[in-house]
Amino acid sequence: MIKIKKRWEIPESEVTPESLYRQRRNFIKSAGVAGGALLLNSFAGAQASYAVDGYQKKSISLDEEITAEEDATSYNNFYEFGTGKEDPKENSQRFRTDDWTIQVGGHCEKPGTYSLEDLIRPHALEERIYRLRCVEAWSMVIPWIGVPLSSILKTMQPTSAAKYVAFRTLHDPLRMPGQQRSVVPWPYREGLTMAEAMHPLTLIAVGMYGKTMPNQNGAPIRLVVPWKYGFKSIKSIVSIEFVEAEPKTSWNMILPDEYGFYSNVNPEVDHPRWSQKKERRIGDIFKRETQMFNGYQEEVADLYDDLDLKVNF
Ligand code: MTE
Repeated sequence: MIKIKKRWEIPESEVTPESLYRQRRNFIKSAGVAGGALLLNSFAGAQASYAVDGYQKKSISLDEEITAEEDATSYNNFYEFGTGKEDPKENSQRFRTDDWTIQVGGHCEKPGTYSLEDLIRPHALEERIYRLRCVEAWSMVIPWIGVPLSSILKTMQPTSAAKYVAFRTLHDPLRMPGQQRSVVPWPYREGLTMAEAMHPLTLIAVGMYGKTMPNQNGAPIRLVVPWKYGFKSIKSIVSIEFVEAEPKTSWNMILPDEYGFYSNVNPEVDHPRWSQKKERRIGDIFKRETQMFNGYQEEVADLYDDLDLKVNF
């Protein structure tokens, strides 16, 4: 039998073993500023985001065709790098994510500044193939690599006062040129209820297609909430805060009548300017029916038993 190599499988030789990656990082650190900069340049292509070695393949799979990697990495929404679909890829290539830190605060026992290593390394990386349905009525199927958000949040020991989790993206107009225009009230913000954040499907992703997260897809660390419209999946996160009141979210701040806090994929609730009943899978010609909760109804519907989803859209 011939084993057809899947599009998202990459040869072992392309994966940097963890020990080698760590050696490089330590060497870069000890080489000092000037030497370090030189060295980084000599690793052009090997960006300094999280190395996704040794992950468990396909811990959650889907019987659907994976979107071509080229499409998933060149047709993006990431307004920090421009509002056109091809802008993020073009404008984010020089974005550096070295020494990335995440501020953790609010109602928890372990607030502070976490490095990517501190945050991710204690947990086992998994590959999960999820549908991502954009509010603009297109969708993709993407093999993410990451860690359940719940595992990460548990280590921060949220207190009983924590009812929601608020996330923010980096705000640095010099590094993110799209922020030089006020199309969004920067920084980009998102939020989840505590129950949504702790749901086993909610993922913090550091890679995709077997590789470190590309800049245009939200390097070095982003959220993936597969039953919600894509804009909930906030990219390049620098802040996680446990809060008591429903946090402000960017798209709700911009157009409150069009984008609610929940933003669950729901073919029964149309966007005021277009139908949400159908979607076009990137790569397909014909549209397909949009599924309730993006097809994750069995897993997540009970989170919303007491909510009128037409009011809480
Ligand atoms: N996160 C930030 N910080 N800025 C953005 O503009 N766009 C959102 C979301 N996360 C966005 C963001 C939208 S509208 C979508 S559809 C998804 O990212 C797209 O993710 P992808 O480009 O990896 O497919």
